[in-house]
Amino acid sequence: VNLDHHGDVELGPELVDLAVNVRAGTPPGWLLDEITAGLAGLAAYPRQDQAIAAVARRHGRAPGEVLLTAGAAEAFVLIARAFEPRRAVVVHPQFTEPELALRNAGHEVEQVLLTAADGFRLDPAGVPADADLVMLGNPTNPTAVLHPAEQLRALARPGRVLVVDEAFMDALPGEPASLAAAADVEGLVVVRSLTKTWGLAGLRIGYLLAPASMVRAMAAVQPHWAVSTPALVATVACCTDRAADEAATAAIELVRQREYLTDQLSRLPAVRMYGEGRAPFVLVRIAGARLVREALRDKGFAVRRGDTFPGLGPDWLRIAVRPERVTDAFVDALRVVLAEAID
Ligand SMILES: Cc1ncc(COP(=O)(O)O)c(C=O)c1O
Repeated sequence: VNLDHHGDVELGPELVDLAVNVRAGTPPGWLLDEITAGLAGLAAYPRQDQAIAAVARRHGRAPGEVLLTAGAAEAFVLIARAFEPRRAVVVHPQFTEPELALRNAGHEVEQVLLTAADGFRLDPAGVPADADLVMLGNPTNPTAVLHPAEQLRALARPGRVLVVDEAFMDALPGEPASLAAAADVEGLVVVRSLTKTWGLAGLRIGYLLAPASMVRAMAAVQPHWAVSTPALVATVACCTDRAADEAATAAIELVRQREYLTDQLSRLPAVRMYGEGRAPFVLVRIAGARLVREALRDKGFAVRRGDTFPGLGPDWLRIAVRPERVTDAFVDALRVVLAEAID
């Protein structure tokens, strides 16, 4: 399995993007305006105080429990550099960067595989008791499953670093199951991203929330000034009440759009879905998915291959939730592709 594969390389100039999970129509104009206004200060080295305070306020944490990062992706690297796990476990299928970061830092990684038969639900008993570093995603990319907060809390124990990647949590109404505010959970590192909901993948901005001593350990292995001034401006802007309202509205829209997509897909007998999707994407199983994906490209649609996620075979595709008119056009194309495959 190629852990280095990401949906962005599946895009093309003529293709409708259902492969990358950045919210459609972003970044919003008001956010671009704020970032643009902040560019005048580029001669100065970045100052993080305001952005840290904004994140801390947003999640009800102390400023010392916040570490700003160049996207969630950097957070995984800092975790891998700061800690020396004897038994690191990554719960799959999930985003591959956490495992890659651990491996690149010289750690061995064990994979715990959740199964389609169980709807990719977490089985806490499957995580080895002596694992001293455990990484999960919530909601999980690509399975779209949201693990209950109690189950994740129960995975914490003395001497264990428990990493929960909440990169997509702000896409869910009310952020159910978020542990971002859970300062009471021992060893918990919550990773968050601002790149998906706000369309800032190119700016690289995210953060992690953890006990202050762990934040210090991770800050110690981070390059100085790792987060640029425009990214800091964006962080403050994305933590306002106005931004929270916009994210909440978008999250509710997303639920409607996802129901529409899953309803349309459920009418296609060749398409199987598993579990209860709670993310801005759905995971589907289609026999011969590779050929289906290539035929969809010929019809102008890029979807994300599933076979590069550990635990998924060649028959899986991940499809981004988009506005209904995009879904209509996509499902029409998929219907034709599937009919051609049968002929
Ligand atoms: C589950 C998950 N976590 C983290 C990331 C990385 O996010 P960022 O752009 O903040 O580095 C991604 C990107 O696709 C993701 O899917």
